[in-house]
Amino acid sequence: MFKQILCLIHSYLTRNHRYWEKRGVPGPRPWPFFGTYLQQFFKPFPETEMEWYNDYGKIYGIYDGSKPGIIVGDPDLIKQIMVKDFHVFTNRRPVKTTHKIMSKFLSSLVGEEWKRVRSIITPTFTSRKMKKIFQIMKNSSDTILEKLERAALQKNEDIDLKELYGCYTMNVIAKCAFATEPDINFVKHATKLFTFPFWRKFLDYTVPMRLLDSLKFTVLPSDAMDFFRSITANLIHQRLMTVQSHHSCDHDFLDLLMNARRVDSVEISQSIKDIDDASFRQQTDDDRNQNQNALTGLVTQDVSKTLDQNEILAQSVLFFSVGFETSSQLLTYCTYCLALNPDCQEALYDEIEKTLGMNHGRIDYDIVLKMVYLDAVISETLRLYNPVLRMERQASEDYTLGNTNIVIRKGMIVGIPVWALHHDPQYYPEPYAFKPERFLMENREQIVPYTYLPFGAGPRSCIGTRFALLESKVALIKALSKYQFVPSKQTRIPLRFLPVGRPLLRCEDVIVGVESRIQLTRTPKS
Ligand code: HEM
Repeated sequence: MFKQILCLIHSYLTRNHRYWEKRGVPGPRPWPFFGTYLQQFFKPFPETEMEWYNDYGKIYGIYDGSKPGIIVGDPDLIKQIMVKDFHVFTNRRPVKTTHKIMSKFLSSLVGEEWKRVRSIITPTFTSRKMKKIFQIMKNSSDTILEKLERAALQKNEDIDLKELYGCYTMNVIAKCAFATEPDINFVKHATKLFTFPFWRKFLDYTVPMRLLDSLKFTVLPSDAMDFFRSITANLIHQRLMTVQSHHSCDHDFLDLLMNARRVDSVEISQSIKDIDDASFRQQTDDDRNQNQNALTGLVTQDVSKTLDQNEILAQSVLFFSVGFETSSQLLTYCTYCLALNPDCQEALYDEIEKTLGMNHGRIDYDIVLKMVYLDAVISETLRLYNPVLRMERQASEDYTLGNTNIVIRKGMIVGIPVWALHHDPQYYPEPYAFKPERFLMENREQIVPYTYLPFGAGPRSCIGTRFALLESKVALIKALSKYQFVPSKQTRIPLRFLPVGRPLLRCEDVIVGVESRIQLTRTPKS
């Protein structure tokens, strides 16, 4: 009897596991209950993704529990999914929550609701608005210098890059999203947002939404969420009082989100183009036009409706939770790469010295954007260590994938294997070498469109691209103009990634040595 029950459970859990085999689509072997998720408990996700991409090719089938999904790593098909047929793939994997804040995150909204909120908050991230936020970044970057000075003074003290940059990006985003200096309580709750146990994500992927909802389960811990909610609610209240006494200003996200109600469709249209400029620098003119055509679909929305208080709260919490760790990772890996590649570090130092020298040592918004080698260094870091490992879209109708005869069924999740594309030698020769020159203007033509996707692509790409790049550039300019990073005994080569990394890259401590430039005798090249 017991055996029969087990057999019944087994057949139920594996009822769809021959879905791809029947359709001639290759893919890893699924396990009862886990589907193809099991490996991720034991192996770092980048390794699993690379292994599958090499074994099964650019298109392969996977299973979330018993649900079939598909991975598409062909650049032309990616373009179709993310841009040309965006109307079919507007949404991501549904987020299983009815929490009144989490359900309003821009990243989890669907269809028309997503378009409305995205079009209202798009102007928050234009270059004009970023110029205003620039000062917060500059001031916060002083904390980096203080920490580096301490480490450099004590000759043998290495620096933990994740901690160094984590403090900086948390400071910047806390000030921008919550007008708050992070204290111990703040850091405690923030840490909960980023280090929630892996099983939460796993349950989210495999257990039906109705069951999770009835158990009041949420992927992100509700107590941390409520903490940030109460901070923001108080701030909004204070700001509304300030507006009444005519002291409103556009200094942080909260102000910008609260003032978002004032934008009109012309401004939204310009903002979309402006943000697109930051996101799609590697694309050809044709791709660029297509992206912009797809994006302008947002402008036709009714923008007269503004964000309500819960929607503003949700976006502040979201910016905080997605903006802190991704940017901190970018800075960490970038500094690590520079420590291991002294020639690149010196070339970057020369550029910083020269550019600041011409500007009387001042770091201004426009000066930062002029540093082309810095931009190439950051782009190459984002290729080599893209923080977001895989992107996802959900099909809103049955869809035939190019001329493959594969039908993606309505509701199916499509994954884009960003890590694998970034490390495919077909697109990036010597894929594990750090070579910023790949991204210099004269070489950019060689990058195959839709193989470089650190910020995603199409209308649903990262809205914070400009913010993240600016924040990272300011920090690097400040740090590198005074300090030099070197490998130390504690520096791991290569880095070791942790198994529970999806969807964000996770690795063990990243530690390097630091030396003050002031004690060095070297003179910069003219
Ligand atoms: C190096 C830093 C960052 C990286 C690598 C990154 C990467 C990404 C990626 C890959 C996506 C998904 C794109 C897609 O599905 O096509 C995304 C979405 C998003 N990112 Fe970022 N991001 C970064 C920083 C930020 C920052 C600083 C913010 C906000 C201040 C932010 C806000 C968002 C939001 C709101 C979305 C969802 C957009 C939507 O659904 O419309 N990101 N990001």
